[in-house]
Amino acid sequence: MIRSAIIGCGSYSPERVMTNADFEGLVDTSDEWIVQRTGIRQRHIASEGETTADLGEKAARAALADAGIGIDQVDLIILATSTPNNTFPATAVEIQHRLGMTHGAAFDSQAVCSGFIFALTTADQYIRTGYAKTVLVIGAETFSRLLDWTDRTTCVLFGDGAGAVVVSAVEGEGTSADRGILTAHLRSDGAHRDKLYVDGGPSTTGTIGHLRMEGREVFRHAVGMITDVIEAAYAATGLGSDDIDWFIPHQANRRIIEASAKKLGIPAEKTVITVDRHGNTSAASIPLALAHTVREGKIRRGDLLLLEAMGGGFTWGSVLLRW
Ligand code: UT7
Repeated sequence: MIRSAIIGCGSYSPERVMTNADFEGLVDTSDEWIVQRTGIRQRHIASEGETTADLGEKAARAALADAGIGIDQVDLIILATSTPNNTFPATAVEIQHRLGMTHGAAFDSQAVCSGFIFALTTADQYIRTGYAKTVLVIGAETFSRLLDWTDRTTCVLFGDGAGAVVVSAVEGEGTSADRGILTAHLRSDGAHRDKLYVDGGPSTTGTIGHLRMEGREVFRHAVGMITDVIEAAYAATGLGSDDIDWFIPHQANRRIIEASAKKLGIPAEKTVITVDRHGNTSAASIPLALAHTVREGKIRRGDLLLLEAMGGGFTWGSVLLRW
């Protein structure tokens, strides 16, 4: 059977770094509060004029170089973002053009912090049906543009960045020993749409709006939703926490990651945490964390990777894959 394997990955973080101390003059907060409650120590912020397409293009080029393929071999580009350059066209077509791709197709996918999981799962579907052989999946965000910089409950949490993977068709036996995506599970529940949202948009206010979040409410639901989709992945494959080599969660809050890992029985040394370095970068956070871990030389061929995310919508999902 056809499986979708990640054959390359890359990331890009804007040069400008904002530390927790940099917020101390802006809002009533402290490095101690931010580190204790979130694990975040710094985030990267796009410079003026630097866009989601700029970040996504750089991550995409890095992923293509890592995969050792040219853009001519890519059939489809899926960009996960909630911060597109423009309301339309899709930022994916801007990146497609910049990469010099004149064939195939490109589109954006929007599931906020779960965006990368949704886009990767979409790529898997296109590949397994034979519609595409190689898909470039990008998560890129400039969340700094959505923040209310006077609201301490949100502005300290987010950052800008991009990560990308090249996903390609490989032959598998149909067992959990195969290379590639073994199972994927997506969920959403719009009943929670007002707990994490942007208070503007083209069809409502005609403005971009600002990010609003009931942080405690999101936190309250996060661990249960995350474990729900991970248990679904285990049930679908017969695999379990003991089999996981690397747990690569969405990087929103260190406490959510540690509570989820604890509930699932995944040890700390197998849990990837990079939120300290880049804050919550929404759809970019999983490919950023993945690329960091790959660059550190930690992930080996054959390792079992568990990816998960939960965010606005609510949306949540998991992907279990063999490297
Ligand atoms: O990407 C997916 C979606 N996002 C998330 O996963 C985020 C989920 N939520 C969280 O990570 C946490 O709820 C937060 C980090 C947002 C907040 O942590 P918390 O432990 O839930 O704190 P809290 O909201 O209960 O606030 C505790 C106190 C409050 O003061 P009072 O009411 O106790 O006097 C807040 O006003 O901390 C205050 N506070 C702050 N203090 C200093 C809130 N933000 C700040 C701040 N600095 N930046």
